[in-house]
Amino acid sequence: MKKEINEILENLQLVPFTKGYRIEDFVCEICEYSQYLHKDALSFQEIGVSKTHLLINKKNADVIAYMVLVNDSIKLSDAEKTQHNMDSIPFGAFPSLKIGKLAVDKKYQKEYKGIGSLMIEIARGISHDINELGVACKFITIDADVEHNPSVLDFYIKNGFKFNEKYNKKSKIQTVSMRLDIYHNENEKIEKRTGTEN
Ligand SMILES: CC(C)(COP(=O)(O)OP(=O)(O)OC[C@H]1O[C@@H](n2cnc3c(N)ncnc32)[C@H](O)[C@@H]1OP(=O)(O)O)[C@@H](O)C(=O)NCCC(=O)NCCS
Repeated sequence: MKKEINEILENLQLVPFTKGYRIEDFVCEICEYSQYLHKDALSFQEIGVSKTHLLINKKNADVIAYMVLVNDSIKLSDAEKTQHNMDSIPFGAFPSLKIGKLAVDKKYQKEYKGIGSLMIEIARGISHDINELGVACKFITIDADVEHNPSVLDFYIKNGFKFNEKYNKKSKIQTVSMRLDIYHNENEKIEKRTGTEN
């Protein structure tokens, strides 16, 4: 049975990706995600098109997971605005933080559950930091990679994401656009993760 990643929370650290981390040992079950970290992540962030964050095991410097974050903006239909209690907001597009890539090392994925969900929670924390800095951010967005991982929608749904109507009308779908309202159900999610009840 898998252990909970929360059991080793004190060993974990999120760091911005720089040279010197043992990324070559990172292996994701989908090889495109390993290759991205090994080959493209550093050069892409050097020209400002993406920023990669590594979840490190401080005990042995393993890279447990990584995510790529970029600025984003999403258009919502009137019905979607209603879902977020934003009928009276006159804007059509809303500021967001996109998780451009998210991947967990397969050795850790076999041993622990909750790593991917922890990365979403961390992204949520970063979204709040962005707001604190004085730049609005309402949603976390993701283009769920159903081409490489057909069942991955379940992971995002379990983490509170909803489908984006305006972006999912293509006939041949490789990715599915989804969003998470960072101000919604926050207490409920934290209680679920920690098992606390008030
Ligand atoms: C997708 C990924 C990031 C999820 O990370 P993880 O650590 O395995 O996920 P968690 O343990 O936090 O899972 C949370 C829940 O989602 C479910 N889940 C996770 N991945 C799933 C998948 N591919 N299909 C269906 N359900 C999934 C888990 O079973 C768990 O459900 P539970 O709470 O009922 O037990 C990871 O599996 C991964 O790196 N996959 C390969 C790369 C990839 O597909 N990245 C996403 C591209 S959009």
